[in-house]
Amino acid sequence: MLVLGIETSCDETAVAVVEDGVRVLSNTLATSRALFEELAGVIPEEAARQQLLCMIPVLKQALREANATMKDIDVIAVTRGPGLLGSLLVGTSTARMLAETFGKPIVGVHHTLGHLSSTWLDTKTPPLFPVLTLSASGGHTDLWYRTSHTKGELIGRTRDDAAGEAFDKGASLLGLPYPGGPSVAKAAEGGNTNAYEFPSPLKQDDTLDFSFSGLKTSLKYLLRDLEGSFDMKDMAASFQDAICEHLLSRLRKAADHYAKAASIHLVGGVSANKRLRELAKDALTDREVLVPSSLGYCTDNAAMIAAAGYFLLQEHPTLAEETFTTNASLPLEATIG
Ligand code: KG4
Ligand code: ZN
Repeated sequence: MLVLGIETSCDETAVAVVEDGVRVLSNTLATSRALFEELAGVIPEEAARQQLLCMIPVLKQALREANATMKDIDVIAVTRGPGLLGSLLVGTSTARMLAETFGKPIVGVHHTLGHLSSTWLDTKTPPLFPVLTLSASGGHTDLWYRTSHTKGELIGRTRDDAAGEAFDKGASLLGLPYPGGPSVAKAAEGGNTNAYEFPSPLKQDDTLDFSFSGLKTSLKYLLRDLEGSFDMKDMAASFQDAICEHLLSRLRKAADHYAKAASIHLVGGVSANKRLRELAKDALTDREVLVPSSLGYCTDNAAMIAAAGYFLLQEHPTLAEETFTTNASLPLEATIG
């Protein structure tokens, strides 16, 4: 089954063609990020304007690279939320227009189900359930235990900032460019991870929830107290490790509790982090640790949405006949529902 995936939840315009949820025939993306780098954030109206301009060229390119036409496509899958409303509407309107014009079924996908599906992309042996997944991005950080693509539970979530947001806000405090994850990681190369001390968030808490706002505040006060006299490499390395260690302390606890999980997956933009991957291998030696097969599948992309659409229809075939809404605040609980 050939699925055309469309993803426009933030500043990216992404279209992909994926076969049977795993084989990526094309994964095309245009981003207006460079426009927003200096502003350390995205301007929603401007992002949507750029997406309107890019959508049709990106769609054409994705089809061309997959050596396909709309006739070959079996289903259209599109991100229906959460995200920036104007951006989401560019994607869902395009998907609805294509479905109508070419008489194709269409399925709306929760952005997070896309991330949860990203470890299936381009795999020869698809992972076996149950799986435990840490999904950590700029907008969300959560832990899932699933017995199938759409069955399972949300077992932990952030109470304030997302892990990627901690990287982004930390980078801004350090004067490093947006997005913060890659720039903090780059600044941290060769740095001493123990040079500066950060608190361990939610240390006494026995849930699997996360909290990152305290780390950002600690960095702010540390920088204020040091009055500009600090080593950037060491500071970035210590801050990066504090974020990674908090993520892994929760993941380790979840792995012990959900002993049946056959593998542990790290997905979302933050899963591109090399140090996180290194530390995860050390912390989770008793389990197979999987990350998306390419860095482009960690950050937002349309291949993961096409895969999620395929898995959704495999498990709930009637969804193709149902309508869906575009919802900027689609709750996390609706991810696999
Ligand atoms: O999944 P994604 O592309 O978009 C959202 O759904 O939010 O994730 C973007 C987030 C940003 O906060 C960015 O700083 C972070 O992922 N990120 C990273 C790395 N690459 C992207 N964080 C840490 N290390 C990286 N290498
Ligand atoms: Zn995302």
